[in-house]
Amino acid sequence: MSDRATGPVDPHGPHGSTDPHDGHVHHEHGVAPHEPDPAAHADAAHLAAEHAAAHDPSRVHVPHPAHVHAPGAAPEPHVVGPELLRLEGLEVHFPVRGGVIDSLLRRTRGYVRAVDGIDLSIRKGEILALVGESGSGKTTTGRVVVKLTRQTGGRIVFEGEDISELWGTGRLRPYRRRVQLIFQDPYETLDPRHTVGAFVEEPLLVGTKRMPREERQRRVREALEAAGLRPASDFAARYPHELSGGQRQRVVIAGALVMDPELVVADEPVSMLDVSIRTELLRLMLDLRRSRGLTYLFITHDLSIAWVLADRIAVMYLGKIMEIGPAEEVIRAPRNPYTQALVSVSPSTDPPEPGAPARTILVGETPDAAQVPPGCRFHPRCPLAFDRCRVEEPPLVEVGEGHRAACWLSGVGPRDLPVIDAVAAAIPAGMPPPVATS
Ligand SMILES: Nc1ncnc2c1ncn2[C@@H]1O[C@H](COP(=O)(O)OP(=O)(O)OP(=O)(O)O)[C@@H](O)[C@H]1O
Ligand code: SF4
Ligand SMILES: [Mg+2]
Repeated sequence: MSDRATGPVDPHGPHGSTDPHDGHVHHEHGVAPHEPDPAAHADAAHLAAEHAAAHDPSRVHVPHPAHVHAPGAAPEPHVVGPELLRLEGLEVHFPVRGGVIDSLLRRTRGYVRAVDGIDLSIRKGEILALVGESGSGKTTTGRVVVKLTRQTGGRIVFEGEDISELWGTGRLRPYRRRVQLIFQDPYETLDPRHTVGAFVEEPLLVGTKRMPREERQRRVREALEAAGLRPASDFAARYPHELSGGQRQRVVIAGALVMDPELVVADEPVSMLDVSIRTELLRLMLDLRRSRGLTYLFITHDLSIAWVLADRIAVMYLGKIMEIGPAEEVIRAPRNPYTQALVSVSPSTDPPEPGAPARTILVGETPDAAQVPPGCRFHPRCPLAFDRCRVEEPPLVEVGEGHRAACWLSGVGPRDLPVIDAVAAAIPAGMPPPVATS
């Protein structure tokens, strides 16, 4: 990763604060209300066909025949390798300070528990989607992985090596070649004064000073073409304002590819793009996984994108993983009421079945990571909450093969406990049509 994406490392050490905005290209956004969108539906359906076919052709659920692969045309099932990255009990608590005096005295009024003890592991070639509402800690987790934010607890293990305390530009350089970050907003990532070629070349200048000029130019060309900007010579001399939104995000992807990374942390990389362009970009990311053996930590608030793209989905809520498992299972048989609420308001790839339960509305306050409720942190918004939920935090427990959920009710089989029905039934009569608060 080049300096443009590295930003300052947390100077305050444990419990210090790094601001995601710090001189950085990142752009924080609230999450737009997540309403079903017919175009997104078709978009998701098309990719879902490919995804399902890639994993198991017999499980293609997509209704539109035009979207289903012709016999024999389905992509090869994707093979994932050994573990690449592991997060163990990862914690990022940002100090809350009341004002200038507090800052000067380094006085703390509490902590924002942005990431509050999560365990995750990603295997080579895998796509793990990290999903959750705004403020759930997705970006902070991604920033810790690329070493832009310092964890306050837990460990980061990359290819078996503990890199939790690997800091300093020189020591981090080899790691940053292997792990690249793609941000949400190409408008902010690209410097309007730099040509596309200069932008893509920059990480090579920073990360590999001795690389000959011809070699750099060859790699820039190759990265641009791999990102779908062909012929590269048509794009290298252009400026960002001469490109469309989709082309700009392709340039950002080329800037990551030029270092030939193994792991890409993509933070909402398509959320600012039109739906039609989104499909192309997601397809490109899948192609790159296949052709380059890339591994992705894909951050999104959009569960339907997570489904069509990812092998596994981890659902985050107020700094914790509430559910994690194979994408298909998390969507089709979610075992945590929060996941069920998210699924029920997501654009689905299947048309609603007759008698399907009503969509669930996520009610209650937007979560505040400085005031994490005791017990199950979802309990103030959970219509199924009972006494135990208010005092005891449920652990993540195995509910299926590779599928874990944190809910005191998760031990009850999904079919035995119609949780979505129960959640839907708990919505007072006369509520407006479904809208997810975010
Ligand atoms: N540098 C910081 N200092 C203090 N609090 C922070 C800092 N960075 C993030 N936070 C807080 O940590 C919590 C998690 O933020 P984060 O950006 O990781 O969420 P997110 O899931 O990526 O949300 P979004 O979907 O809006 O991008 C939020 O409450 C946020 O306000
Ligand atoms: S533990 Fe209780 S409050 Fe938490 S999700 Fe399960 S039922 Fe709801
Ligand atoms: Mg974010």
